[in-house]
Amino acid sequence: MEERIISSEADIGELSFESSLRPQRLQQYIGQDKVKENLSVFIEAAKLRQETLDHVLLYGPPGLGKTTLASIIANEMNVHIRTTAGPAIERTGDLAAILSSLQPGDVLFIDEIHRLPRAIEEVLYPAMEDFCLDIVIGKGPSARSIRLDLPPFTLVGATTRAGALSAPLRDRFGVHCRLEYYTKEQLEEIVIRTSDVLETEIDQSAAVEIAGRSRGTPRIANRLLKRVRDFAQVRGNGFIDMEIARKSLELLQVDRLGLDHIDHKLLIAIIDRFRGGPAGLETIAATIGEEAATIEDVYEPYLLQIGFLQRTPRGRIVTDLAYRHLGREVPGK
Ligand SMILES: Nc1ncnc2c1ncn2[C@@H]1O[C@H](COP(=O)(O)OP(=O)(O)OP(=O)(O)O)[C@@H](O)[C@H]1O
Ligand SMILES: [Mg+2]
Repeated sequence: MEERIISSEADIGELSFESSLRPQRLQQYIGQDKVKENLSVFIEAAKLRQETLDHVLLYGPPGLGKTTLASIIANEMNVHIRTTAGPAIERTGDLAAILSSLQPGDVLFIDEIHRLPRAIEEVLYPAMEDFCLDIVIGKGPSARSIRLDLPPFTLVGATTRAGALSAPLRDRFGVHCRLEYYTKEQLEEIVIRTSDVLETEIDQSAAVEIAGRSRGTPRIANRLLKRVRDFAQVRGNGFIDMEIARKSLELLQVDRLGLDHIDHKLLIAIIDRFRGGPAGLETIAATIGEEAATIEDVYEPYLLQIGFLQRTPRGRIVTDLAYRHLGREVPGK
């Protein structure tokens, strides 16, 4: 698959850039107002009662701030955070080692928690419920199970696919937070905040321009800002104004709504080859030389979300909105 500047997934080279941009406190975390308000109440209540915070499940599309929120929770609770990921825990011993090394009240953050092996999940249940581990010692007839007490802790789980989580695991989280796509105004605020952290000056109109092309996703907003900053430094005097923002985004081939050439290719294929649809997923895949699963998981969601594509039982349909955006005549009008 081609690399895309508007991808919502982080690439490896981006990780340290991202962590330098993470807000540390709930107050600095922009948007997600409902989630923030709920969390701040639960955190304050737990602190007042001197208890550990309930286990928290964070779910939503990539790049919306789950990892960021996990570390904010630990900061607000004044505890350490220990970070791991579902696929990284292979044996029950791995999990037991992590759990028994926690200090009372710590946050254990498990990213991609839907990818936790089933056997590990079962060790997690008593740990989450009663802060204890049931360990089997020995083999065969002499095997016996002993129970180890654990320090109380808060499990923060993150997933992009809440539906893939087993019900018993999901039910053991007391707090469920669903992250939503950000509004243009919130992304504008994020762009201005990030410019500040990067010590780069930016016009508000330029921030609006970047925000509008960020597909509702802070990760994309920050990435676009970083590239635009390069242009401003090399082609200008370092200051990001509207003109340099527009020009560089054009060169990056990200259009006014954040669509790139792949989005265009997909829409235009359906328009030109299938008169706008309906066209079946497999047929579209064959036409543009992509896998159906890639179209479904990666290319389509944003186009569906902004109402450029519709899914019907007979296939995908390109909407009038998309025709207009592409400067094509709307058929039959
Ligand atoms: N509410 C926010 N305010 C400011 N910056 C944010 C916010 N949410 C996310 N960001 C920034 O966006 C980037 C991506 O966020 P983060 O890594 O937390 O997303 P994620 O949901 O964990 O993504 P993934 O699903 O890929 O793990 C980070 O650099 C982070 O600082
Ligand atoms: Mg993350």
